[in-house]
Amino acid sequence: MHVFTQVSGLQKRVATARERNKRIAFVPTMGALHEGHLSLIEKAQEVADYVVVSIFVNPTQFNDPKDLEMYPRPLSFDIAKLEAIGANVLFLPSVQEIYPAELDFVVDVDFGLLTKVLEGVYRPGHFEGVIKVVYRLLEITQPDVLIMGQKDFQQVAIIRHMIQELHLPVELIANPIVREADGLALSSRNVRIDPSQRPRANSIFYILSEAKTIWHSTTPTEVNRVGASKLEQAGFRVEYYEVVDGHTLETVEQWDQHEYLVICVAAWLGQVRLIDNMILQDVKITV
Ligand code: PAJ
Repeated sequence: MHVFTQVSGLQKRVATARERNKRIAFVPTMGALHEGHLSLIEKAQEVADYVVVSIFVNPTQFNDPKDLEMYPRPLSFDIAKLEAIGANVLFLPSVQEIYPAELDFVVDVDFGLLTKVLEGVYRPGHFEGVIKVVYRLLEITQPDVLIMGQKDFQQVAIIRHMIQELHLPVELIANPIVREADGLALSSRNVRIDPSQRPRANSIFYILSEAKTIWHSTTPTEVNRVGASKLEQAGFRVEYYEVVDGHTLETVEQWDQHEYLVICVAAWLGQVRLIDNMILQDVKITV
C-alpha cells in the first residue's frame, strides 16, 4: 500500500492507475477503522480495481471541540488493517494540505431541508464541514466511484444531492450498516461507551427492528412517540427519533405520501452520542 500525505504524490499515483485503465474507488474515513469501514473497502474492491482510502479527522465538521479532541486516532492499527485488506493507497493529509490558506472555496449548492433537519438541528455547522471536506477530497482524488455508509443516512443524502447538483462525474454507492453481533451499529465512538452501559446500547437496534414489523398498522406519529419513549425507558437521552422521507428527509405524516421511508435516530447513552437508522420501505419495494 502506498501512503501519501501530500496531494501531489497522491494525484501522481492515481493518474498512473488511470493511465492503466484502472477504475478508481474512493473511501473517505476519519480513521479508527472497524468492520463498517472495511465493508466499504470490500465493496470498493468489488466495483473498482484501484482503491484509495483517506484518513482525515476533519476539524471543520466537529461542532464540539471536546469530541474532536477525544476522537480516537489509532493510526498504526489502521494502517495494518488497510494493508491486510489490500487497499492500494492511503491518503493521510494534514489539515494544511486539505485547507491551504490560499485556497478559499465554497460549495455553492442549495441543500434545502437536507442539512437543516435531524443532525442539522443538533450539530450546527457539522454538515457544512462534511460537504466542504468531501468536495475537496473528491476534487483531489477524482475517483470514478465514491463509497459511503448508510450508517450516516443523512450524510449520504447530502453528498448525493451535491454530486447531482454539481454534476460531479462520480458514482455514489451507499453500503448497508454493519452491526455488532448484538445489533449495535459499529462506530468509532463505541469504544467510549461505558462498559456498564454497553449491554443496553443495542436497544436502539431492537426498538428500530420492532418498529419495522409494526409500522403498517399504526401512524408515523405513533411510531415516533413509541420509539422515543422506549429508548428513554432503556436509559437513553433521545435527541430525535423520527420517520422521514428517505429522499428529502422531510417528516412523514402519512404513509401513502412517501415511497421511501426511514427512521433516523440520535440518542445519548451516558457520555456517548449514538446515531442509527432503519429503512422501513425502500424505493424498490412496493408494499
Ligand atoms: P467516518 O465516521 O470515519 O465514516 C467513514 C465512512 O464509514 C462513512 O461513509 C460512514 O457512513 C461509514 N461507516 C461508519 N460506520 C459504519 C457502519 N457501522 N456500517 C457501514 N458503514 C459505516 O463519515 C465520516 O467518517 C466523515 O464524515 C467523512 C465522510 C470521512 C468526511 O470527513
